[in-house]
Formats: sequence, structure tokens, C-alpha cells
Amino acid sequence: MLLKLDEALRTPKSIQILEQVRSRIESGALRAGERLPSTRHLAEQLGLHRSTVATAYQELWAQGWIELSPGAHPRVRARIHPGKPLSKVAAKPSFDWGCVTSEPAAELLQVHRSLQGQGATEHVISFRRLEMDPRLLPTESFRNSLQRVMRLRGTQLLGYGDREGYGPLREYLARRMQRHGISAQPEEILITSGSQQALDLMFRMIAKPGRSVAVELPTYGYALQLLHLAGLKPMGIPMNSEGMDLDALEASMRKQRPALVYTMPNFQNPTGICTSPVHREQLLGLCERHGVPILEDGFEEEMKYFGKVVQPIKALDRTGLVAYAGTFSKVLFPGIRIGWVTAPRSCIERLAALRTFTDLCPAQPMQAALHEFCERGHYDLHLSRMHRVFRKRMQAAIRTLRQCVDPAWAQWQEPNGGFLIWMKLKASPKVQDWERHFATHGVEVTLGQAAFAAPANDVFIRICISLTDEEQIAEGLQRLGRALAAAHA
Ligand SMILES: Cc1ncc(COP(=O)(O)O)c(C=O)c1O
Repeated sequence: MLLKLDEALRTPKSIQILEQVRSRIESGALRAGERLPSTRHLAEQLGLHRSTVATAYQELWAQGWIELSPGAHPRVRARIHPGKPLSKVAAKPSFDWGCVTSEPAAELLQVHRSLQGQGATEHVISFRRLEMDPRLLPTESFRNSLQRVMRLRGTQLLGYGDREGYGPLREYLARRMQRHGISAQPEEILITSGSQQALDLMFRMIAKPGRSVAVELPTYGYALQLLHLAGLKPMGIPMNSEGMDLDALEASMRKQRPALVYTMPNFQNPTGICTSPVHREQLLGLCERHGVPILEDGFEEEMKYFGKVVQPIKALDRTGLVAYAGTFSKVLFPGIRIGWVTAPRSCIERLAALRTFTDLCPAQPMQAALHEFCERGHYDLHLSRMHRVFRKRMQAAIRTLRQCVDPAWAQWQEPNGGFLIWMKLKASPKVQDWERHFATHGVEVTLGQAAFAAPANDVFIRICISLTDEEQIAEGLQRLGRALAAAHA
């Protein structure tokens, strides 16, 4: 057996031996039962200490690649699929997982597959994904924070940790909520894996056959899927330019009381609408009168960069019927998966119990690093930078739309923050497939259909500017304008 070790590599010699022997077994070059050289022999051959070879053999044994018995040569272990690379083993499983999949999960699979096909195409400017532009992320500062907390408290942080979330981060969030007029104690905060988990826990907490949840129409498509999975019915309440139509909500509530109202008062996804303080008060009053709790999704709470900040509904909540879901995903890093719920203790306790039995607790190192990052002021600094950047980007978007899109072809409302512009398109006999039509003009947007609980009559598109700079926005929206012009020529 001829092994070649590389002196220049930083990988320890024992690992180099392990990897080379393993890859030979995987490729079939070393067969089951074949003898390997003794530790002494191989050590002499490679000019190493015997213990280095022994360490490699021990690890190969521990990983199940070889047999070791006292006084005998090591041998390659017999495997079920000798000679086949592991990645090829069981490539054609015969068990049909489809027959044990529930109906809602099977439907989710279809949606999931359709989303997977949506990778951005080259030369196409995409306004699809709602995710912070990686060019703007303060990755270095976060890396420093992660390294610092791991150096200082690594062992402790690699344990399970507090079920309701890392204490110092909950304290920080309680203070941060106060800036938005929400008075919350750390015990009234549950850290979640993004706000998606907050929605999931809340829907599961209230789920019961026949129950419904009032949602804005259109709404966040993934929330509709979660409702479906929990067996809850969406009670669609149309949006007008002010937000959820409160008369329609009251009329629906009188007919059948929903178990919850799910709302996004700031930069609603997908319409980008922000509701007024009066609308928020009225919605809260209505829910108080009917005894219906509210799940307020503040996913872009801090991205208000035009005009005056409006306090969340939770800040007006006198009776504790509002649960507020926040997240660090939209302005900062979605990859750290940190969101939270702020609600009265009686609600938090129930959500925490549910989360404990589904995924035990959130990952501590990320929470501790985020806490350190925020306490050092990096988050505030990043946020004010994002306000400056996106103020300009949104202005560029609005300017280009005004120049390139004739109001006869499409209607839209100018947002006062966030990343989204929602457009209602005038139907065109020339275009059946809008997605393809836009793609031929080199631009991608999200079609609005997934945001409705039932098929919509009109065509809507969502334009998201989070990933594009001013130049790309101007070019992409000019292409959109040309696509609309062609549709109505
Ligand atoms: C309205 C809304 N709520 C919640 C989420 C979930 O985000 P995350 O789980 O990353 O916090 C999203 C993600 O796009 C969203 O658009």
C-alpha cells in the first residue's frame, strides 16, 4: 500500500493516512478482507512515529472501515456494498415515502418543488428574493463577535442552554422593544428560529379542527402554507390602500369568530403597505371587543426610512392580546436564524412548551454572538447604514417606475420603507404567462398568486429591491417597463 503524505499541508499526518486509506476502500482499490501493513511497517515506510499510524488506524476502526484484532494485521472490513462509493449505495430505494405522507405535507412538497426551480438566471435581473444584499452585511464584525464569545464561554455555549433563549439576548431585546413603545420583561420574550418558527408555534398552539385565522389578502404565502399544515382555515380579509379592510374584518368576525388575527402593519408582505396609528388602534379595539388575539408580524419593523415611525400594535396593547413576532433576518443575517416573540408570560410559556418538544432550544453560540454584536453597537450602526442605502435604492425604484411604467398598464402604491413594491397589472390578451414574458425581457419578479388563499382574478407582481443596487434597480425596472409596453403595444 503506497501512501503519499504531503509535508506542505497543515492537515495532521494521521488524518492524511486516514483519508487516503478511506478513499481507497471507498473506490474499491482496497477490498474487504484485504490486509493492511502493520503499524510498525507503515510507520517505517512513511518515516513517521508508530503512534501516528496507530492513531490513524484507531480512527479508521472507529469509523467502521477496518478490523483491528490483537496480534493480527489490520484488515479492510466487509461492507454491505463492497467496492461501491458510499454516495452510490442505496441510490434506488424501494420504499415509497409518498404513501405515508399526509395530504398537507404532500401539498407542501409540490410548493417546495416549484420554489426550487426559481434560481436566478444569468443576465436576468431578479427582484424575487426578500433577503438582505450580502454585499451590505457586516460579516467581519459578526465573525469577531462569534470568535470572542466562543473564546470566553465556548464550552458553556455549546451546551443546550435556556429553553426560552439566551438570557442576555432576551434582556437586550426587552430593552430594544421599549424603543418601539413595547414594555416587555425578558421573561415575556421567547427566542425562536427565525420568526417563521414563531408563526409555526403560534398556529400550532391554537390549532383545532374547524378553527380559522383571519389573514390579510394578499398575505405572506409561507404563512398560508403553515396554516394549512396546522389544519387551520385562512379567513381572507381584503386589503385596501389603508391596510386590512376593518369593516370586512368585523363582518367576518360576526359570522364566525376567528381564533387569531395575523397581521403585518409595517411594510406588509407582499403589498408593502404601512397602516396608520388610527388603523392600528381600530384593529386592536375590534379584536378586544370580539376577544380575538392578534399575531403581529414585525418582520421589517426597523426598516422605516421615509417619514415618521409608527408604533407597533403591541405598543397599544392594554389587555395582553397581542403577540409580537420579530426577526433579525430581514435587516441583518437570515442565516443565524434568530427571531423572537414578545407576549404575556401565559402565552410565552405555552409557546415555549411547544418548542421544547419540537426542537428543544435555539442554538446558543449564534445567540451569544448576536448579543455581543448588538451590545457593541454594530447592529445600530448597520441599521442606520441600511436606512441610507435603501432610501436611495427605493428612490431609484420609484423614479424609474414613474418614468417607465405607464399608469394605464399597472397601478402601484409607493412604500415608505422596507423592500417591497406591489403592482396590479392590467390584463393583456398578448400575455398568458407573465413569468415567461418578463423573463424574455431579462427581469424576474414574484407573481402574486401564492399570496392569496384562493385563485385571484387580477394579476399582481411583487418587486423586491433587497438584493439589487441602484444601477440594477434602474436597469431591471426599465426592462419591466419595456415588458409591460410590449404587452400593451
Ligand atoms: C412576512 C414574513 N414573516 C416572517 C418571515 C420569516 O422570516 P425568518 O424566519 O427568516 O425570520 C418572512 C420571511 O420572508 C416574512 O416575509
